[in-house]
Amino acid sequence: MKAKYRILEVVNTPSLVGKTITINAWVRTKRESKNVAFVALNDGTVFDNLQVVIDVQKFDEELLKNISTGAGVGVTGKLVESQGKGQALEMVADSIVLYGPADPTTYPLQKKGHSLEFLREIAHLRFRTNTFGAVFRIRHHMAFAIHQFFDNKSFKYLHAPIITGSDAEGAGEMFHVTNFDLDHIPRTEDGKINFSEDFFGKETNLTVSGQLEGELAALALSEIYTFGPTFRAENSNTSRHLAEFWMIEPEMAFYDITDNMDLAEEFLKYLVNYALQNCRKDLQFLNDMYDKELINRLERVVQTPFVRLTYSQAMDVLLQSGKKFEFPVKWGVDLQSEHERFLVEEHFKNSVILTDYPREIKAFYMKQNDDGKTVKAMDVLFPQIGEIIGGSQREEDYDKLLARINEMGIPHKDMWWYLETRKFGSVPHSGFGLGFERLLLFVTGMKNIRDVIPFPRTPQNAEF
Ligand code: 4AD
Ligand code: MG
Repeated sequence: MKAKYRILEVVNTPSLVGKTITINAWVRTKRESKNVAFVALNDGTVFDNLQVVIDVQKFDEELLKNISTGAGVGVTGKLVESQGKGQALEMVADSIVLYGPADPTTYPLQKKGHSLEFLREIAHLRFRTNTFGAVFRIRHHMAFAIHQFFDNKSFKYLHAPIITGSDAEGAGEMFHVTNFDLDHIPRTEDGKINFSEDFFGKETNLTVSGQLEGELAALALSEIYTFGPTFRAENSNTSRHLAEFWMIEPEMAFYDITDNMDLAEEFLKYLVNYALQNCRKDLQFLNDMYDKELINRLERVVQTPFVRLTYSQAMDVLLQSGKKFEFPVKWGVDLQSEHERFLVEEHFKNSVILTDYPREIKAFYMKQNDDGKTVKAMDVLFPQIGEIIGGSQREEDYDKLLARINEMGIPHKDMWWYLETRKFGSVPHSGFGLGFERLLLFVTGMKNIRDVIPFPRTPQNAEF
């Protein structure tokens, strides 16, 4: 019979009462009296700790001293119904293996209640707290749910490249990829960097989005999605921006902008509902510790249809609100976070999908409307977050797309392959990008995006 269990199994298997099993885990806390010690073990598989009862007389004093907060241990003992409150089962220790002690005088997580800022500085250890255990379990479940959602719909998972030779999205500054010796960069006669001598024989960057490659695949496989890391070297040091973040980008042939909105709304509701169904304990903890409205907010998103309106209609709402914004409102300007949050949190008190933005503030590939001024863009705006999804119907008309590329001065050498899809069998298609960490901000109620990715990359920060 199996002897080694995880705490997840112990919590979910009441029939284990009376059995002798082994748990490998880390010590969270120890309370000790003369004859008995209570040690709370956590192995990260579930929110709960397992309480171990130790008869002090039966164990070596030196060993017990080392069973302190943070130590890695293996404990074998019998599971019994708990006498105390807060847990169904506890373990009576027969034998204890000390894998690795954690010196109480130097272990940084000796005490509870550290600030999130402090924990960011010890990102290598913060996994061991209740908060980050909860956040990263939820992160896992959300990633899994994303694949499940698309697999249920027969979308195909496409791996877009991380190194790209094109700089066309215009989504922000890119990180260069090179293997040049930076002290001796080859130059051409006119002093320019000679990329033909670089690893790929051309200038390359880390991708800002898998969309353009996703479109190529969608125009053959019909419905695909990407889910990978993307990189933006924009120097915006905010609580909602990362230099390295994960994005989910579905791309669908034969979808118009309304189909696109319907999919985005169904997708977000599926994910939030999945969290409510599958991450309850972790959500309850985050709700109680950080944000008493969290679970209510999640339930509301699942239950209420999103409000849909055009950018122009939103402008009217903002103008008629009589509110003084830091960034003045005028048709044609990009919406700032304060505008988005006013619409979502104060005016509609609901999630919002905005469409038909001015073409000047959106990417070249968006389908142009007949008014000559707007494009079939859509942004989904969420309470607390602002923009969580950005997407559009794509321009499938070769001549219109080419005209826009020329107008924006995008080099043809970067775009010829993309244009060919509009030359051969071009069809209407649409897609969007969901920022995975923005989704996690919403689902966990965390306020800073650095707290929902294991190792945040932000300006001046890539320590771990
Ligand atoms: O609106 P964006 O820039 O859209 C695109 O990249 C399109 N290619 C998507 C598509 O149509 N396939 O980014 C999409 C989403 C945003 O709505 C936001 O949630 C997230 O990606 N995002 C960021 N998340 C964290 N840090 C950043 N610096 C982000 N920039 C965008
Ligand atoms: Mg956007």
